[in-house]
Amino acid sequence: MTRWLVVVLAVVLFAGGLFGYDQGVISGALSGIKQTFSLSLLMVQAVTSWVTLGALVGSLLAGELGDRLGRKRAILIAGALFTLGAALQWIAPSAVILVGGRFVIGAGVGIAAVSAPLYAAELAPAQLRGRFVSAYQLAITIGIFLAYLVNAGLSASANWRLMLGLAAVPGLALFVIALIAPESPRWLMSRNRQADAAKETSKVQPGADVAAELKAIEAAIQQDAHTASWGEIFSAKWRRPLLIALGLAIFQQITGINAIIYYANQIFASAGFSSEVSRATVTLWTIGGVNVLSTFIAIAFIDKVGRRLLLLVGLIGMGVSLAVVGVAFQFIAPTSGVLASSGPTSAGIVTVVALVVFIASFAFSLGPVVWTVINEIFPAQIRSRGVALATAVNWGSAFLVSQFFLSLVHVLGSSWTFWLLAVFCALGWVWIYLRVPETRGLTLEKIQDMWGSKA
Ligand code: BGC
Repeated sequence: MTRWLVVVLAVVLFAGGLFGYDQGVISGALSGIKQTFSLSLLMVQAVTSWVTLGALVGSLLAGELGDRLGRKRAILIAGALFTLGAALQWIAPSAVILVGGRFVIGAGVGIAAVSAPLYAAELAPAQLRGRFVSAYQLAITIGIFLAYLVNAGLSASANWRLMLGLAAVPGLALFVIALIAPESPRWLMSRNRQADAAKETSKVQPGADVAAELKAIEAAIQQDAHTASWGEIFSAKWRRPLLIALGLAIFQQITGINAIIYYANQIFASAGFSSEVSRATVTLWTIGGVNVLSTFIAIAFIDKVGRRLLLLVGLIGMGVSLAVVGVAFQFIAPTSGVLASSGPTSAGIVTVVALVVFIASFAFSLGPVVWTVINEIFPAQIRSRGVALATAVNWGSAFLVSQFFLSLVHVLGSSWTFWLLAVFCALGWVWIYLRVPETRGLTLEKIQDMWGSKA
């Protein structure tokens, strides 16, 4: 690890941490916001969901920004938006400005969610790439954990301005770190800036054979000298990597991760955690804590056992635990689609244990591996747009799942909803087994060769 790789890692950690923090913090901030502005249901939803909308727009813009201005400037813009959005939320004199702040910070999340892992994938040496992108996922989980922690600490005073505004500090830090961080040699080469690319490569990987590295990048770029247009991304030539990235983006969400993260609190009520404080604590440790710890398993193994094995084993853990939750729900009396909280039942305890297994299985597999593969699977000329599209589809799927989970529970009942998620795990397993190739240890250029892109 050189000093500059540490800077690259810091960019990735701050970007991921902010993504997670903004995802986790709203659950704790909402009740205070409702008190301050006496919001209608529509506005409550807007305050919650406009981050997702901003992220969708941000992730679509990110590909364009990353190609035109460079990976580094895209991250600078994300840092600036984080800071601006957090400041707007902190001072928001009205609910409309608050929603505007949520959208701005969401745009930062979207741009960072595309740019940071792409940046890590392009700058990390091949043998460390999986670990660098997993570090991004680790940062997301730490961000969620810190948000739960801040929520628990500030919930008594309902200080939502501080909860939301605190994101300005790491936002500013990301901006400053990105200012000194190196630019991606792959992007510089695509702009014909060989000398700069050589300089940045020897900075980041001292000892490396710079000429050979640049030649390999050059050869990959030469295969198709221009950056593909949006239309070309959908051409038959790139269909395989595109379908792999989109499929992974969708399966990461339709297997239910964010439904669980969002409804954990209510599910824990059914296990007998009747006070808000006890629920906040159990959510913090069993969801937040297990999510962080289990991500270390991925970091340790992703470049050793590979992407496929982690995905396939993780999906089994997720599918089985969801099926068990479905069975447990047969024994838990539902009250208007939400769970009862009439004391610690054994079915409730089984549910808690199964959810811990679910979160742990997600965190060492679909969580980090999906982002890793999305960021390494595309050929250079469509990489940044491809990553942007897959990220936008991931946000879109997250939005749909969180939007329709309660309706599903209402229509199908809780058990069948969880069994449906388990069926998605099984479908994901078969699809990954048949379609997703192993990319461990290959340089980005070798991966590109898999698609026969010279055609
Ligand atoms: C997913 C998020 C999810 C998070 C949980 C990420 O990989 O993209 O939607 O909330 O993992 O740790």
